[in-house]
Amino acid sequence: MSHKPTDNAPSPRGTLSLQTIAMPKDANANGDIFGGWLVSQMDLAAGVSARKQARGRVATVAIDAMVFLQPVKIGDIIGCYTEIHSIGRSSMRILVEVWETNDLDGHQSKLTEGIFTFVAIDDEGRTRPVPRD
Ligand SMILES: CC(C)(COP(=O)(O)OP(=O)(O)OC[C@H]1O[C@@H](n2cnc3c(N)ncnc32)[C@H](O)[C@@H]1OP(=O)(O)O)[C@@H](O)C(=O)NCCC(=O)NCCS
Repeated sequence: MSHKPTDNAPSPRGTLSLQTIAMPKDANANGDIFGGWLVSQMDLAAGVSARKQARGRVATVAIDAMVFLQPVKIGDIIGCYTEIHSIGRSSMRILVEVWETNDLDGHQSKLTEGIFTFVAIDDEGRTRPVPRD
């Protein structure tokens, strides 16, 4: 299912699962942060949420199409908010929103969002059921 991001939400949806600062090593020659860096942070945040729900090992199986709404600059503080969208037998669809917080006035603006699908796996890498509570 495709997911269309919008930039008119007033505040983040979900739980703050990861917060970090964009560093110079994550930027291109223009000082803009690589999209892949942001996706990596989102994958980590969704993984935090998926592991909690699955109570154990998980793996990313799919990432829905994403749109980047605003550039990220070196030094920006970004927060990844997660919310479990749906749970299947072994899979979990997790909405991840990324918001930047302005140091001076605390204003938050949405940078991107995406749906990450994780699968609960056992020690051998085989799928296992996700607990629903
Ligand atoms: C995750 C993995 C164990 C699933 O194995 P599989 O044989 O595809 O298992 P299944 O077909 O039974 O699918 C398992 C679940 O994933 C879901 N799934 C599989 N492929 C999917 C896809 N492309 N998009 C969304 N969901 C998907 C299935 O719908 C199923 O959900 P359900 O159990 O809730 O009904 C296997 O694909 C794998 O190891 N992939 C690599 C994961 C990985 O290494 N990720 C990090 C990459 S660096």
